[in-house]
Amino acid sequence: MEVIIQSTPAAAAELLVRLIAHDLRANPQLVLGLATGRTMERVYDRLAQMHRECGLSFAGARTFNLDEYVGLPATDPHSYHRYMQEHLFRHVNVDLRNTHLPQGDASDLAAECHRYENLIRKCGGIDLQLLGIGQTGHIGFNEPLSALHSRTRVKALSPVTIAQNSSLFADPSKMPRRAITMGVGTILEARRVLLLATGAGKAEIVAKAVEGPITSMISASALQMHAHCTVIVDEAAAAKLQGQDYYRWIFANEPEWEPYRSAS
Ligand code: GLP
Repeated sequence: MEVIIQSTPAAAAELLVRLIAHDLRANPQLVLGLATGRTMERVYDRLAQMHRECGLSFAGARTFNLDEYVGLPATDPHSYHRYMQEHLFRHVNVDLRNTHLPQGDASDLAAECHRYENLIRKCGGIDLQLLGIGQTGHIGFNEPLSALHSRTRVKALSPVTIAQNSSLFADPSKMPRRAITMGVGTILEARRVLLLATGAGKAEIVAKAVEGPITSMISASALQMHAHCTVIVDEAAAAKLQGQDYYRWIFANEPEWEPYRSAS
């Protein structure tokens, strides 16, 4: 795992965008794993801008979102289907037939989870997976005690997550209590993982996920087992990391990061 500390949330998002753009240009058929949440909004805004102004093309890309709320149809304004339409898909040239999210309103949820896993496999697996992190340390909606080998399945949302996300619902009491989410094992199979976390509110959980023990109580800690995972944080989210100086030294000195230093 690598940790990159950037000065501001905007600089952190910018670095993530540059890494995505690099991979998309190198492989126009990239299979991109997408995340939702407030942190990602800035990333999608910038990707849309790069599409408009620099010709960044999503024409050949295939996308798989991490999760969707159980019970919400794609048309629901609170669904992640709608989030992706609003924040990314309608602003870029992705072929909507190549964009995939779990169907939260499927009548047979177990079959839907199975279908989703198979579809990822059929597309050759995820090349680049974007992640945020929730207050419980969840990636996707892998709440505490998610098995480290878990696959796409229905997960009950924790009270902490319900408190974190219900403010995004017009009527917070209507927030679904369950979601379909890729499993921790599904996420760990992505060839590369990029996690973005910004703001002081994420400092404690980032430190636990990155420097604490690997535990199913904090799903993001499983990323320590991934061979190619980069955690990008701003100063505020980095504040509780013990190894800050070391992480900064690596970013400032290792040749692979040379093209990306000007974003900081
Ligand atoms: C939701 C998503 C997660 C995401 C989290 C972060 O819970 N299911 O995948 O990591 O939001 O949210 P935010 O960026 O709003 O802090």
